[in-house]
Amino acid sequence: MGFVANDFWHDAVNKATTDLFTFGYRHVVKPRMVFNIPPDKAHERMISFCRATGRNPPLMWLLREMLDYTDPVLETTVMGVDFENPFGLSAGLDKNCDMATVLDHAGFGFETVGSITSRPCAGNDRPWFHRLPEYDSMLVHVGLANDGSDKVIRRAEHAWTASRSMQVSISIARTNDDLVGDLDEGIEDYRISLERAANRTAMVEVNISCPNTRAGEPFSSDPENLDRLFATLDTVEREQPTLVKMPYDLPWPRFKELLDVLSGHNVQGVTLCNLRKDRQGLSVPREWLGGLSGSPTFAGGNALIRRTYREFGHRFAIAGVGGVFTPEQAYEKIRSGSSLVMFISSLMYRGPQQITVLKRGLANLLRRDGFDRVSQAVGIDA
Ligand SMILES: Cc1cc2nc3c(=O)[nH]c(=O)nc-3n(C[C@H](O)[C@H](O)[C@H](O)COP(=O)(O)O)c2cc1C
Repeated sequence: MGFVANDFWHDAVNKATTDLFTFGYRHVVKPRMVFNIPPDKAHERMISFCRATGRNPPLMWLLREMLDYTDPVLETTVMGVDFENPFGLSAGLDKNCDMATVLDHAGFGFETVGSITSRPCAGNDRPWFHRLPEYDSMLVHVGLANDGSDKVIRRAEHAWTASRSMQVSISIARTNDDLVGDLDEGIEDYRISLERAANRTAMVEVNISCPNTRAGEPFSSDPENLDRLFATLDTVEREQPTLVKMPYDLPWPRFKELLDVLSGHNVQGVTLCNLRKDRQGLSVPREWLGGLSGSPTFAGGNALIRRTYREFGHRFAIAGVGGVFTPEQAYEKIRSGSSLVMFISSLMYRGPQQITVLKRGLANLLRRDGFDRVSQAVGIDA
């Protein structure tokens, strides 16, 4: 395959159109079409827009020609899965797998669909989102709304097999509804979804750290519960690698206990980290419910990535997520120990061309520092 980076004219067009998207999003789309309406409405519109445009092949071709930056330095293999680049959409934006075609053509290395649950789930009462632009952050209180793992995994499998190059991961969580029962009920809930997902996506992510549900977080607050959960999940035969989405707010000794448990199970990677609960140092209205995304998760998340890489780098691959807005920040996640990098908030605050800005910028930083492959930089500062 010819790389955009090695084709003078394609590279020049890609760079110019990325700049155009950046300008258009900042000065037109964001102020007049996204940030001028409530965030819940903006989210619905964005999903409908992606669903509609994804069905239009000429438009997808145009998107790819304009935005998709490919470069050999970005190619990587993690947990046995080949990625065109290390950047992925983190779990939560594309809950029902409506955005896969657009993300594939825009040049994402992978996307995480979900989080999904064994039963369809309405989620928490609205509003689900509050914007905190002064912190480049969103307050998220969705509570795992989704169409249910039966339907969504079917869509994700189709998206994966139809995709040009993008890998598809599926995030599995526990249903958040009135039928929530005891610990065993919760374990069975995860097991059903994992059974449905087995071998139908490139990766699976088990979300044990959603901060917004009525069942709480029994699997990240108690290592014994986590051990019981994964003893059951180990019985589900599957070829694809499994990541676990870890909580942000635990002190290292408690965090390490969870990693110790996971290291004894069929788990190949950890995603660091989920939304931040602690609001210390931030001015957020008390009545606004939810966990924080974006910049407030950057520094704390990186500290956990570095520590995890130092102590478990031989055992787990790390997917780093939280507050990645610039190529330098993506590079810092990688140098701290992340083999893969995910984001959501920067798409909302900076626009869809973020994927291209991050890829091109990261490739330049890697070359500047003498790396031929992104994998060579993983953990270099840990
Ligand atoms: C709108 C939204 C919905 C989210 N929903 C989920 C979810 O369903 N499952 C999950 O594991 N994380 C969820 N998250 C957390 C993100 O996957 C990610 O960990 C967090 O937002 C930090 O990344 P960011 O700073 O790039 O947004 C959600 C985040 C956002 C902004």
